[in-house]
Amino acid sequence: MSHKLETLISAEQIQIRVSEIAAEIRKDVGDETIVLLCVLKGAFPFLADLARELKGNVMFDFIQVSSWDGGRETTGTVRIKKDHDFDIKGKHVVIVEDIIDSGLTITHLRQLLLTREPKSLRVASLLSKPDARTHETEVEYIGFEIPNKFVVGYGLDDKEMYRNLPYVALLVDTSSAE
Ligand code: IMP
Ligand code: MG
Repeated sequence: MSHKLETLISAEQIQIRVSEIAAEIRKDVGDETIVLLCVLKGAFPFLADLARELKGNVMFDFIQVSSWDGGRETTGTVRIKKDHDFDIKGKHVVIVEDIIDSGLTITHLRQLLLTREPKSLRVASLLSKPDARTHETEVEYIGFEIPNKFVVGYGLDDKEMYRNLPYVALLVDTSSAE
């Protein structure tokens, strides 16, 4: 199958929005330390940019959950592949996600992390596909709402490719357009 990339959100747009979100998070949390919990692998560029835009004390840790296992459709189950290293009890935690699609991953993560008694728990996702939602869930910070189409770049992959793109692109199938 052949594909082409169509830019949906430019690197410049992303940087502006990321710094706005960093300012909102800091305003909401106040002066205390913020723990950014990055959902691997897709959220790592967002984490790196968000962490550097955040003023004050910031810690970060990583968690890996899988509902997709490399394919293009959700498998309907969520599995923890890697848990975070340090204790989040009593801490202000922000889950950093690349995209909220069905909402399954974040619903599951929120429930799990709440049992670990953080002082507060919020979610920041660079992208959201509201039309794909089957699990309604609160998301405090959304970078961009996008149509229900498959996107890559800025951490998001198609079979581990395209994560390195500094922008978000639609992966358009061109094989039938001869
Ligand atoms: P959810 O559990 O259905 O909300 O799916 C969330 C996860 O699915 C994200 O963290 C991504 O890893 C993956 N995902 C959802 N939509 C896309 C997409 O358009 N491109 C690449 N990965 C996606
Ligand atoms: Mg993800």
